Amino acid sequence: MPVAGIDIGSLSTEVVILKKEEMLAQVIIPTGANSKLAAEKAMKEALEKSGLSFNELGYIVATGYGRVSVPFANKKVTEISCHGKGAFFLHPGVRTVIDIGGQDSKVIRLSPQGKVIDFVMNEKCAAGTGRFLEVMAHALETDLEEMSRPSAPSVKTANISSMCTVFAESEVVSLVAEGHPREEIIKGIIYSVVERTISLARRVGVEEELMMTGGVAKNIALREALEKSLGIKITVPDEPQAVGALGAALLAAEEAVK
Ligand SMILES: Nc1ncnc2c1ncn2[C@@H]1O[C@H](COP(=O)(O)OP(=O)(O)OP(=O)(O)O)[C@@H](O)[C@H]1O
Ligand SMILES: [Mg+2]
Repeated sequence: MPVAGIDIGSLSTEVVILKKEEMLAQVIIPTGANSKLAAEKAMKEALEKSGLSFNELGYIVATGYGRVSVPFANKKVTEISCHGKGAFFLHPGVRTVIDIGGQDSKVIRLSPQGKVIDFVMNEKCAAGTGRFLEVMAHALETDLEEMSRPSAPSVKTANISSMCTVFAESEVVSLVAEGHPREEIIKGIIYSVVERTISLARRVGVEEELMMTGGVAKNIALREALEKSLGIKITVPDEPQAVGALGAALLAAEEAVK
């Protein structure tokens, strides 16, 4: 019987529909201002893609900060469990997962059996998250594409000392006014997120294989800088943003046979 997982994040909403571990549909849409509407829209699109009707779904698990606003979910599960589950399913060698989304960044440690053994989350602060990168892109009048482009090793790293998004944004504006090259400023911004992520990861320790999930895993410059700083290769799945929804769907499949 097909099942679904839905992840309503602060910025994006994903639905994954599975039938016996085969992915029938995967949808990613912006969450926007109304998470309930986003959940309904993403589910509708996923059902259309899979050629199923809602009544054919055997079980639905919701996750993400907006999971409370999914009236049609049978069960609500934390993102930690779902990202852990999804990452381990894709690569059973994974022992550490770094999920950086729009407003949260988390580091999850998994046992060789795929159970969550420890995790840490950033405090209620945008520093070190996708939102931080978006605010900085806006301050530089650029987009995420430029922010994701790796720079040459010869490019200097501008110093961004503040860990607070609001202060860091003023620093970026000052650096632009002082005539610092954009590449150097972007490298400084990336470095600031890397530093933040590493200090979070140190609290639980990093064991290989390390997988990155969440939208920020699509930022190649950040991924490469993080790999370099940690001295560890990072695995990135084909669709890092949908790993939470995949984990939710896998949990739904387990519930459906109970
Ligand atoms: N194509 C892309 N290139 C670079 N960065 C990207 C890309 N797509 C998304 N991102 C980054 O991913 C972030 C959003 O990640 P994601 O969709 O995982 O967040 P979310 O799950 O909604 O948030 P949260 O889990 O914190 O509630 C954006 O802020 C942006 O920085
Ligand atoms: Mg998320």
